[in-house]
Amino acid sequence: MDDMKLICDRLTKYYGKNKALDGFSYEFTPGIYGLLGPNGAGKSTLMNLITCNLSVTSGEIRYGDERIQDMGKEYRSRLGFMPQQQNIYPRFTVERFLMYMAGLKGIGSHEAAKETDRLLDMVNLSNDRRKRLGELSGGMKQRALLAQALLGKPEIIILDEPTAGVDPKERIQMRNIISQVGFNCIIMIATHVVPDVQFIAKEILLLGKGQIIDSGTPAALQDKMDGKVFEITTDEGHFRELCGKYRTVQMSRNGNEIALRVVSDTRPSAEECRAVRPDLEDLYLYHFE
Ligand SMILES: Nc1ncnc2c1ncn2[C@@H]1O[C@H](COP(=O)(O)OP(=O)(O)OP(=O)(O)O)[C@@H](O)[C@H]1O
Ligand SMILES: [Mg+2]
Repeated sequence: MDDMKLICDRLTKYYGKNKALDGFSYEFTPGIYGLLGPNGAGKSTLMNLITCNLSVTSGEIRYGDERIQDMGKEYRSRLGFMPQQQNIYPRFTVERFLMYMAGLKGIGSHEAAKETDRLLDMVNLSNDRRKRLGELSGGMKQRALLAQALLGKPEIIILDEPTAGVDPKERIQMRNIISQVGFNCIIMIATHVVPDVQFIAKEILLLGKGQIIDSGTPAALQDKMDGKVFEITTDEGHFRELCGKYRTVQMSRNGNEIALRVVSDTRPSAEECRAVRPDLEDLYLYHFE
């Protein structure tokens, strides 16, 4: 498609009386997008709408110029989805799981075998291909699910918390794999872990209560926090009072000295206070803590 553009146009989704998504609009072009937000923000709801697992209450999603519900199978064949829940097919081997999912996607068996080999290699599971999904560690299982989402080289890849329940080493591996996937596709990653997307995302969307709270390139978002992050040096006798007064994002202790990293719209009045360079974690905590 020349005009690879996924447009979310004023999406609203209610579950009964509960509004999970509230007028969400955004235009996605090829690249990696980080969807950051706390529990219940609406990340999975948005992803389920984009992958046609749910239907909108109002608003529409277009791929290029066409509404996705009008494109039907033609649209779904371009999608790859790694859903949030992960206890599926515990008795399938990794290899069989991928062949089976390829079949569901309509990929012929010759091509499916080739894709399975390519993706097992990519996610580092070639040597574990005969293990059952139920026997894999959390991180290996997430990699198998990622491989499944990449079958058939989809144009739109939706990953719902790909690093949930994995250790820091696996998390880095997952991040590296995702960043290698390719440049000519739209990749969306939902997470509450800032470093998952901080360095690989083209743009980051902060989602809270079903709405975009902020969005932009990681650098631009970081710059917005300039002048709002401070380090205060204090001691045992004063730090509780300061913690109560300012939003504290980090605390470190060095002997009797305590350093507090705080986010604040105005400069704290504490004596030992200096402005520090903000990072995305500060922005996340500024909006969500
Ligand atoms: N199937 C459902 N039925 C009813 N309410 C739901 C359903 N799924 C989600 N919700 C509600 O919609 C809101 C958004 O939930 P959603 O799962 O989209 O958030 P999320 O950002 O993915 O959260 P998490 O980080 O916990 O995965 C929440 O208030 C949630 O309780
Ligand atoms: Mg979710």
